[in-house]
Amino acid sequence: MQKKWWMESVGYQIYPKTFYDSNHDGFGDILGIYEKLEYLNDLGVNLIWICPFYDSPMDDNGYDVRDFFKVYESFGKLEDVKKLLDRAHELGIKVIMDFVLNHTSDEHPWFIESRKSKDNPYRDYYIWHDGKVINDKKVEPTNWGSFFGGSCWNYDELTDSYYMKIFSNKMPDLNWKNPKVQQEIVDVGKWWLDFGMDGFRIDAVSHLDRDSFVDIKNAKDKYPLDWHKFSNLPKVHDYLKMLNKSLFTTNDALTIGEVGGQATIKEAIKYAGFNSNELSMVFNFDHNWCNNLFDITNPKKLKTNVVDLKKTFNKWQHAFKDNGWVPLNWLNHDQPRLMSQYGDYKFPLQSGKMLATALYLMRGTPFIYQGEEIGMTNYPFEDVNDFDDISSRATYTYELEKTPDDPVRALKVASLRSRDNARTAMQWNKEEFAGFSDENPKVLVNRNYKKINVETQLNDQKSLLNHYKKIIHLRRFSEFKDLIVYGSYEQIDIENEYIYVYKRIYEHQTLLVINSFSRKKQVYQLNHYDIKNIVISNYDKQKIKNQELTLRPFESIVFEVKEKL
Ligand code: NOJ
Repeated sequence: MQKKWWMESVGYQIYPKTFYDSNHDGFGDILGIYEKLEYLNDLGVNLIWICPFYDSPMDDNGYDVRDFFKVYESFGKLEDVKKLLDRAHELGIKVIMDFVLNHTSDEHPWFIESRKSKDNPYRDYYIWHDGKVINDKKVEPTNWGSFFGGSCWNYDELTDSYYMKIFSNKMPDLNWKNPKVQQEIVDVGKWWLDFGMDGFRIDAVSHLDRDSFVDIKNAKDKYPLDWHKFSNLPKVHDYLKMLNKSLFTTNDALTIGEVGGQATIKEAIKYAGFNSNELSMVFNFDHNWCNNLFDITNPKKLKTNVVDLKKTFNKWQHAFKDNGWVPLNWLNHDQPRLMSQYGDYKFPLQSGKMLATALYLMRGTPFIYQGEEIGMTNYPFEDVNDFDDISSRATYTYELEKTPDDPVRALKVASLRSRDNARTAMQWNKEEFAGFSDENPKVLVNRNYKKINVETQLNDQKSLLNHYKKIIHLRRFSEFKDLIVYGSYEQIDIENEYIYVYKRIYEHQTLLVINSFSRKKQVYQLNHYDIKNIVISNYDKQKIKNQELTLRPFESIVFEVKEKL
């Protein structure tokens, strides 16, 4: 296996709008990230991924790009990005940015041209189609649904035709079949790599090809959402091989593709196997669905399915063990908060530490999502107007249509899943607005910032934040660093529904990582091992008697061991 710098990195994801406001306008910005670089350096991360900061009308918080070469006004200027890159590089921190190439904003000049007429030179930059006529009425070319609700086609009066958009109406999909589009995107990527970026998180990359335009049969919904119609289709791999050859490899760029929850392991290997010549890694979301978050009909069910979770991690660790590399992330800006999904509100500190140990000692590259390291939680939404996110509003509308007399239920469902949970202001200190901004913030601030914030945790040796630091230190600087990065991974006792145990082995070293996902006392037998050391744990004074380890609620402990023969 060829070793790469990003295998030894620890990543951190930044949502610029809510990270830090440096210029007192209530909105996060690039210089805000610059000002917090020392914090990130001290935390130990050496790779940051910044969500979109391109110029945009902000229909989807910057994933709707109006100008690829300009920074959105409230985020700052190109010079600020340069300043950020220079300082990050001085500190040894690599920087990657979101590369949005499935769609643009409808305010992008290409689309403005494309709409104008059927023979405009930019017409084929997007996917246009005539409507169907049913009972003398014009309807969409197919009944396919979009991710943000409704049809995946939008009607445009100007030329009496429909354009495809699998996200919002303001995000028309680019036509990747057009070689000119491919070249434009290569030029955008090249420009940013020349500017100093170290790579990209590639947005919605599995959607670049579409199936033939045939209706989905026997659908319950008017616009059923069937991902297969626009996900992981064969041509996507041709496009990625082209991008890899003309852009990524030539610039030694790190590339992580977002392949959504729908890519199977087989498909993921096609994207990111060592020999695939496409991407460095892919983000998958399989482990995000192991807690019935999407089923609120029975609130009791809303708890982690530990066996499922273990099997999911195991599947990815094994599939990629000789063939490729995986990112290790609990969640991102599209998911509710880790503490509100897999953490335990009665044992926040213990469960938070356990979750960090469980994931970030696996084989792969960690990506910590901003605020995760201090245990930020979901937002207590009280009104539909609290939602800023376009898809949360769409979920609310959809749910309300199902039960028009029960807006409380609709709000509850939309809140549980809302992407806004992850997009509240970063909680820096106890001061007003959580120290995110000193002006009235234009983003939500969670009320619990006096309890949960960076400053308080920096001053507390036993805090979650300090546990994250220790884990990162172990990965990057300790005597176990090669083991943690390159060692083998083996899961033990996979059917145990409370304890997650795995072994990491490298040359003469073995680590045994034991994590309890339970509020109740659990017991684990250690008789196969001679214990050499305790490497890290989240409780004092371990309880081991006659080779039996008693685990307290959410206890997590890592031993250096020698296996008994
Ligand atoms: C995935 C991004 O993570 C999400 O935030 C965005 O809404 C869609 N892609 C569309 O760009």
